Amino acid sequence: MVETLAKFRDIPELPDYVDGQTDHDYMHGAWARGPLARDRRGLIRAFPAALMSELMDDRWTRQIEMESMQIAAISGGPVYDFFDNVLLFSNGQVHRNRRGPLVRTFAHRVIEDSRPAIAARCERMVAELAGSGPVDFVGRLASPLPAHVIASIIGAPEGEVELVARHVYSAIRGLSLVKEEVWLEANADMAALAAYVERLIASRRAKGADDFLTRFLDRVEGGPLDEAEIRTQIMVLVLAGSDTTRGALTSTVSQLMQNRDQWQMLVADPDRWVPAAVSEGLRYDPVIGSLARILTERHSVAGYDLPAGTFIGACMLTSLRDPAVYADPHRFDITRTDHPKLHPIFGGGPHRCLGEALARLELEEALKALVRLAPDMELESPPARLRGYGATRALTPMVVRM
Ligand code: HEM
Repeated sequence: MVETLAKFRDIPELPDYVDGQTDHDYMHGAWARGPLARDRRGLIRAFPAALMSELMDDRWTRQIEMESMQIAAISGGPVYDFFDNVLLFSNGQVHRNRRGPLVRTFAHRVIEDSRPAIAARCERMVAELAGSGPVDFVGRLASPLPAHVIASIIGAPEGEVELVARHVYSAIRGLSLVKEEVWLEANADMAALAAYVERLIASRRAKGADDFLTRFLDRVEGGPLDEAEIRTQIMVLVLAGSDTTRGALTSTVSQLMQNRDQWQMLVADPDRWVPAAVSEGLRYDPVIGSLARILTERHSVAGYDLPAGTFIGACMLTSLRDPAVYADPHRFDITRTDHPKLHPIFGGGPHRCLGEALARLELEEALKALVRLAPDMELESPPARLRGYGATRALTPMVVRM
């Protein structure tokens, strides 16, 4: 008997949102109706972990390119130029040309070499906050830390880090659909960040140094990338590592504050439990809500026959709590041993995150500094939460006493 596949129109619609539901409840509720759901615009969500891996495979999918700009009817400007030139929104040979020089220069060894400096920075930042009364955790630690770290890796002078951080957190808002006035600000800050990186590049070309940026520029010299592409690959390092790491650090600390027994395990034996807490923090309430792909050919997904051109968002909230992968998936548990070797929060396939080593290092060193210098830290406000289902999720504030 020939098996007949269901069609696009047979995919259930996403259910209505019920007041008070968490994002996890909502998406798991949708999953209970079937492995795929479609929203009113025709975007499909895929829930099981196995589909996350299947959709990151470039034999039948590709990364979105300028489609989000086209949908928003945007045809120019600094944010548009960023999308047009960045590795993240490109495919095939263009993507390989842009990614290759970064893979070779932003390498694991370079990142590991920066561990002592990052550890010292975390200690300084936490020492300044410890014992100082209520602390805005996001504003005083989780936001500035990634900006400082990446600014120092690309060679920005210490005195300019605040400026870089301001441009970054404003420009980054242009990567999601936002209101007109936010869009204008994001564009202005993206232009300022581009000009800043351009100046940094010019200064290294005039006088090289023994640093990442000089090695990156040597590597791209005479290659296929034009000036806009060279500049944009440096800009994306600054942008991609900021609100992701900020959200991941805050979310992990938020969970640890709510699971005091597990926080105490870190305090007692940080070398053993800090890396485990980082992996579990990245899983339990993920900073990335979904990863979007487009089918490049007719393909069967979870028993549905879908045409080329179909947009699918692989849902991180469900795949990181898939009972087929994780035991007791709704429990925050730093002792779990069932994390896959490659953590899905960093994506998969040709676009897998280039900054995983740096992100983990920052998260680990920040947690070590906190458990060492502020072992009695406690919440002074409701715990922070990540919200939304899109690419990088929004973060609520959190006040702690250290
Ligand atoms: C907890 C922190 C982070 C998370 C969860 C994260 C997650 C991700 C994910 C899921 C992707 C793939 C997106 C897709 O396939 O559509 C990605 C790509 C990328 N990430 Fe990260 N990231 C983090 C931190 C960083 C850091 C610190 C950097 C660098 C400083 C970085 C640089 C990049 C770059 C350059 C790409 C594009 C890779 C490509 O398109 O080939 N990320 N990240």
